Amino acid sequence: MKASTLRKIAVAVMCCLVAVAARSVKDQPPAAGDALAAYIAGARSELEPRFRLHYHLMPPVGWMNDPNGFSYYNGQFHMFYQFYPYDSVWGPMHWGHSISSDLVHWEELPTALIPENEMCFSGSAVDDDGVLTLIYTGRETIAQEPFYREGQYLAFSDDGVNFHKYKGNPVLPAAPNGSPDFRDPKVWKHGDYWYLIVGSKTSDERGRVLLYKSKDLKEWEFLTVLGESNGDMGYMWECPDFFELDGKFVLLMSPQGLEAKGDRFKNTYQTGYIIGTFNYTTYEFIQEVDFQEIDYGHDFYATQTLEHEGERYLVAWFSMWEVPHPEADDGWAGALTIVRQLELRDNQIIMRPVEEIVQLREEFLMDGELHSDEETELPRATELIVLGDLSEDIELLLEGVDGGDAVRLRWEARSQHVVVERGGDERRASWRPARGATWRLFLDASSLELFCGEGEAVFSTRAYPLGGWRLTNRSRGPLHVQAFRLGASVPT
Ligand SMILES: *[C@@H]1O[C@H](CO)[C@@H](O)[C@H](O)[C@H]1NC(C)=O
Ligand SMILES: *[C@@H]1O[C@H](CO)[C@@H](O)[C@H](O)[C@H]1NC(C)=O
Repeated sequence: MKASTLRKIAVAVMCCLVAVAARSVKDQPPAAGDALAAYIAGARSELEPRFRLHYHLMPPVGWMNDPNGFSYYNGQFHMFYQFYPYDSVWGPMHWGHSISSDLVHWEELPTALIPENEMCFSGSAVDDDGVLTLIYTGRETIAQEPFYREGQYLAFSDDGVNFHKYKGNPVLPAAPNGSPDFRDPKVWKHGDYWYLIVGSKTSDERGRVLLYKSKDLKEWEFLTVLGESNGDMGYMWECPDFFELDGKFVLLMSPQGLEAKGDRFKNTYQTGYIIGTFNYTTYEFIQEVDFQEIDYGHDFYATQTLEHEGERYLVAWFSMWEVPHPEADDGWAGALTIVRQLELRDNQIIMRPVEEIVQLREEFLMDGELHSDEETELPRATELIVLGDLSEDIELLLEGVDGGDAVRLRWEARSQHVVVERGGDERRASWRPARGATWRLFLDASSLELFCGEGEAVFSTRAYPLGGWRLTNRSRGPLHVQAFRLGASVPT
């Protein structure tokens, strides 16, 4: 979701958003879904495929941002996402929808939510006794300053495919302090109650997260401010999530407005977490560890998590606001990261690729050493396992066979930092290997995800190589590489 950009262009663009929304309302009901499906099928046949991803969720056509409604219902995982079908830039938000039985192979379903008077901004989904219930932010355009308002809305499905919006929407029409920024509800059940947190801000522009509870998802009682910036944590906290992990509570969120500090907070906006304790009687979240970034790459925002059978899974928007999206020239933009599994160790979240991702390995490509400056061409979808001697510097160059982006992965032995540099733009993080000194690297046609060790440091970066990937060894010390060609697991 994108408040600040929206605000910047608000006055100029709002009239045009109104025009688009009005047109879609007039043209589309009652068969809005059918018309949209026909549009998607037509536009999809015209996509330029060079950067289409093989095993990351992407929009069928058009624009994708935040993942939404990550849930488990009737034996399948559901993933929804912020979707604008009609252009490869942001527009009035729909909810796209995919399902999976293993969090690796995804099948596309019809668009779940179509904007009417309200744009369908981010939110979550729960299985309410057999009804898959979406809790999303409806954003309406209004005539007076600040020209928008946000509230929380419901939509229901009995089959996990077709959704209808609740007639009593919005169920939460306004923030307690009247802030128009009131979005991204995350709902979970504890005991007999549903709990909801939602991102908002104070009247003096400090990000905060509000906590509510309900018996039935429709009537909500405001409980407390779960967390709030004391002034140096940004002007808005988007996409909050709150869960127990290995005995602690984690407030995960995407703050906007953090100042870059050395190597930290170099992206337009951040995603990270605060660790603490929580008491369901007093509703008090006591913070124990300051905000830490959860992923150090260039393109990572707006996480969603889901607990299923004791595992906590996470996914994020694999892109960033206010940066170039080269695939937008090809008729689409945005993707989701591969799903990760979380663990808390020494007050740090460890993030490793979902176990089932090994099912993508289709061909064993190599197992051995590349000599210095030796080049190897790799398939567009490749997994590399690199085992190095960390007492020496390591450098691998990944670039397009026919040009395009070049990415350097480095280990700086003296400073004990991992560096991912894309076209001169570096992201750095210190890494203390917990056990193994391996890197696990997932390459796709326009992306790279680097998991260091067991996931103590993770970098998610989009990159746009032309003609597929080429790997060059720039290391001095010995380094062992295993490579697998990966299969496709998402619709193209
Ligand atoms: C939560 O707070 C209540 C009221 O102060 C207290 O009785 C209870 O022991 C606390 N629970 C935990 C798990 O700390
Ligand atoms: C890179 O080249 C160096 C020097 O030839 C060698 O020691 C090392 O093992 C090579 N690395 C890989 C990835 O094989």
